[in-house]
Amino acid sequence: MQLNVENKIAVVTGGTRGLGLYCAEALVENGIKTIVITSRKAKACEEAKKHLEDLAKRNGKSAEVIAIPADLAVEEQAVNFHKEVAKRVDKIDIFIANAGATWGAGLEEHSVSAIKKVINLNFVAVYHTIQLFTPLLEKAATVEDPSRIIIMSSIISIINNDIVGTYGYLGSKAAVSHLGRNLAVQFAPRHINVNSILPGFFPTKMANGLIEVAGKDLTETNPRGRLGEAEDLKAVVLFLCSKQANYINGVDLPVDGGARLNNPAAHF
Ligand SMILES: NC(=O)c1ccc[n+]([C@@H]2O[C@H](COP(=O)([O-])OP(=O)(O)OC[C@H]3O[C@@H](n4cnc5c(N)ncnc54)[C@H](OP(=O)(O)O)[C@@H]3O)[C@@H](O)[C@H]2O)c1
Repeated sequence: MQLNVENKIAVVTGGTRGLGLYCAEALVENGIKTIVITSRKAKACEEAKKHLEDLAKRNGKSAEVIAIPADLAVEEQAVNFHKEVAKRVDKIDIFIANAGATWGAGLEEHSVSAIKKVINLNFVAVYHTIQLFTPLLEKAATVEDPSRIIIMSSIISIINNDIVGTYGYLGSKAAVSHLGRNLAVQFAPRHINVNSILPGFFPTKMANGLIEVAGKDLTETNPRGRLGEAEDLKAVVLFLCSKQANYINGVDLPVDGGARLNNPAAHF
């Protein structure tokens, strides 16, 4: 079976580094026609664009890569980002709501403003961008090959082993997963599938602080004995975006090596 995303158009938020960049790489390596990436920093956008264009060339592909900087937590910037995308493409097959942030502190020190900031990006901006991009997703949607929304949730949305006080983060991830399941039902008649990916720990700028402190325990308690790697996520993204996965809708897919079944908190 040959999985691909040939002739498709995708948007990946937070596509300049970490898991978002892995998503973009998976799409570019497997035939995407046009990919739009975004993050706050213009320089990071340009560097990721160049990286993805080089990757396409190395793989004998001719992906068009568009990079548009935007802070999606700022309502007007999200609206403007959508406007800029709509000027360049007339439909979208794949929308990956990946941009996210975290904050960890003990309950007594954990400010309400920190909670609001995390929820604003990880939940409100995910809702807002999905709302903005749904009309473009509908334009690409067909019965045989629905458009896809992928929400980058987290394994913390279904387990209870928060070891560093990520109160806003864990709430935001449970919220986006629940939003995803509900949208999966509501959007199915409009031929848009909605699925959430629940990564375990992957070394990225966001996760490296925690991995430095608890990496040994996270690895030792993981049934697969290691953290997540780029290829683990890329395979899942390609599958969920492929025509072959057109009947997969409303899932929360853990990509954690089974870590959720062996709570590391018990070992601290
Ligand atoms: N790494 C893990 O172990 C892990 C596990 C479970 C879930 N996740 C989820 O995976 C997603 C990606 O995380 P990551 O680990 O790859 O983090 P990361 O390395 O920090 O990357 C985050 C990306 O989002 C962008 N971003 C941050 N704030 C933004 C904003 N306000 N508007 C637009 N873009 C913004 C960043 O670029 P700029 O700084 O330029 O804006 C960057 O491209 C997040 O939703 C995270 O919760 C990660």
